[in-house]
Amino acid sequence: MNKRIVIEGGKQLFGEVSISGAKNAVLKLMAAALLIEDVCLIHNVPDLSDVETMVSLINCLGAKTKYSKLNQTIEIDARDINNCVADYAYVSKMRASFDVLGALLSRLGEAKVALPGGCAIGERRVDLHIKGLQLLGADVAIENGYVLANGNKLKGVDISLSMPSVGATENIMLASIFAEGVTRIQNAAQEPEIVDLANFLNMAGADITGAGTSEITINGVQRGSLKGIQYSTIPASIEAASYMCAVCAVGGEIIGDDIIPSHLTFFLNKMQEIGVKIEPITPYSLKVKKDKRLKAIDLITQPYPGFHTDMQAPVMSVLALADGTSIITESLFENRFMQVPELRRMGADIQQENSKAIIKGVEYLTGAEVKASDLRAGAAMVVAALAANGTSTISDIHHIDRGYEKLEEKFSNLGANIKRVENFENISDNKTIESKVLL
Ligand code: EPZ
Repeated sequence: MNKRIVIEGGKQLFGEVSISGAKNAVLKLMAAALLIEDVCLIHNVPDLSDVETMVSLINCLGAKTKYSKLNQTIEIDARDINNCVADYAYVSKMRASFDVLGALLSRLGEAKVALPGGCAIGERRVDLHIKGLQLLGADVAIENGYVLANGNKLKGVDISLSMPSVGATENIMLASIFAEGVTRIQNAAQEPEIVDLANFLNMAGADITGAGTSEITINGVQRGSLKGIQYSTIPASIEAASYMCAVCAVGGEIIGDDIIPSHLTFFLNKMQEIGVKIEPITPYSLKVKKDKRLKAIDLITQPYPGFHTDMQAPVMSVLALADGTSIITESLFENRFMQVPELRRMGADIQQENSKAIIKGVEYLTGAEVKASDLRAGAAMVVAALAANGTSTISDIHHIDRGYEKLEEKFSNLGANIKRVENFENISDNKTIESKVLL
């Protein structure tokens, strides 16, 4: 808890950065592996605390895992899944672990899963997950903070979601893999992570079509028929966007490798609108150059393929320095402006009016002690601190560690002055910070 990231801002970024596997994809693949009575090997697994939490959770359910950070792989042997209880200790730490609900129900016919935690960015209900499982024929109840689901003979059905929830789409997909007949999810989420999950399951023998569109069809296959596979996780588009935001804020020219540009279409269009130069180098790498002050823009977060809510916070740090007034409207989560008070501490001029943030661009930000209030707000702090004059210290960095692999190493390689201080006790001024960092 005493860890801090310390950044001496103002150094432009140059060089190449490789983007890691997507957290929100790999965690769901790990849940999906519970359906496969065989051994799976997942590649391109990022070294993140959330992955460790998921490893502990699926081990507790009876899986045997070998997680190699060096090889970025995880082997999951789910032949002996024997426990249907996902404990609060794991699930309260991160939202993604709630996906084991659909997987356990499919595999074992019963599941007892604690209500989820994760970033406190809004109410984050699970009513759509529960309704979906009930429509498939499961008995579902909430007792003592746990969702209890039972149903050995689920039946395919049409399920129309009132909003395209990522988690609900995934849980319904996982629950319906062995259901009798055809399940159709209408108004499904269309995120690349959903497509990745469908590709993974199809490679193992499931029959899913339409992933990536608003209607997904799952033809039920026999329980026990899925086979072990090797699969590589998609790259993290939000991480890629965060590095691009850093260049937009501080200036310079970087090449991002291992990117799928089509996952970032809306973001890239907006970045070009504010005046950043973006050029494809190969089908999987992009050059990003910022050499002049950027222009203000308005944007509204929307379900994918709209402007992604997870990119909103780092983009706000960019707009805090743009020429003119920008308005960001957050339409997905009620509490996703937690970076605003922290950015103000650095000199940003931002007014919040319910779901709108009005950002009057300033000429410069100044280093300050700030905190990472959630994962993407943490990324916003890193972006702002890299651009600010002077030293910033960012606390609560466990949020950042949930989603950004080797953050300091990657930014240092681009020329940033960024360090992690492991024991930050009793540090009260910048002079002491410097000496502590050097030790
Ligand atoms: C996933 O969250 C991601 N998390 C989030 O990323 C991401 O911001 C979000 O999708 C949108 O893309 C994971 O994949 C682990 P939702 P999820 O269900 O599944 C409401 C990050 O920083 N809703 O699509 O929780 C909900 O309250 C994280 O990596 C209901 O009302 O998102 C929200 O307003 C943060 N009832 C909206 O839908 C439900 O049953 C979208 O939520 C489910 C959701």
